[in-house]
Amino acid sequence: MTGLFVSDCIELMAKMEKDVIDLTVTSPPYDNLRNYNGYEFNFENVARQLYRITKIGGVVVWVVGDKINGGRTLTSFRQGLFFQEIGFCMHDVMIYQKKNTPFMRSNAYTNCYEYMFVLSKGKPKTFNPVKMETVRNGFEMLTHNKLPDGINKKVRKELKKEKNKTNIWTYAVGLGGTTSDKIAFDHPAVFPEKLAQDHILSWSNEGDLVFDPMVGSGTTCKMALLNNRKYLGIDISEEYIEIAKQRLEMVKQKQGLFA
Ligand SMILES: C[S@@+](CC[C@H](N)C(=O)[O-])C[C@H]1O[C@@H](n2cnc3c(N)ncnc32)[C@H](O)[C@@H]1O
Repeated sequence: MTGLFVSDCIELMAKMEKDVIDLTVTSPPYDNLRNYNGYEFNFENVARQLYRITKIGGVVVWVVGDKINGGRTLTSFRQGLFFQEIGFCMHDVMIYQKKNTPFMRSNAYTNCYEYMFVLSKGKPKTFNPVKMETVRNGFEMLTHNKLPDGINKKVRKELKKEKNKTNIWTYAVGLGGTTSDKIAFDHPAVFPEKLAQDHILSWSNEGDLVFDPMVGSGTTCKMALLNNRKYLGIDISEEYIEIAKQRLEMVKQKQGLFA
């Protein structure tokens, strides 16, 4: 099953075979922070279905933040613990840091991050680490004191040009950062295309099936398509699926032009 569908994700997931999804990259409604055309979702049922349809070794990336209302709700932590209870391994707790943060709090520091829970069903079957440039690279005289007399010896060595990224990922947000697709901003909570892409590259291979049960403006599916993965996206809102379809159509048209 591939493509984009309007449905309550719990209902559609319940109709799917078990162990079919390689990777899910998704972001649920955070508490009742935004009103997505009045729709709500049942977290525990979503989590159980996600576990059932994920392949052994498959990964779910759950991008989540808490409502700040006086203090933090910590709903994200409760969700993380529930995922563990039903069998997922909390493979990593990563941070999505926003480079530009418009919202200010008068009595606390400006919040600039969300969590990215990397959940796996067993051990992740795929890890293609995204790389970053090292600060020091090229040839340098490095000190070694391996000699028995304790005298330091300088050796010319090449330092690596790149290393694995850390688990804090920083992205610019807004038009041109999150995406350049103006139409995406008809949805109130789009995550950055680059965030979806970095996870897709890390935890899946070409030809794998990438899923988003709450696909909103279609970011995960767009980046799956651009990176030669199959995609499946669901949203309860017809309006949002229409936006997602238009964004994917733009990609397909461009790919057709350059084919
Ligand atoms: C945070 S947004 C996802 C945004 C998306 N990551 C993007 O980049 O556009 C959450 C989405 O969940 C959808 N949603 C809420 N309840 C749902 C349900 N029961 N089934 C499917 N989608 C649901 C909302 O309509 C909303 O579009």
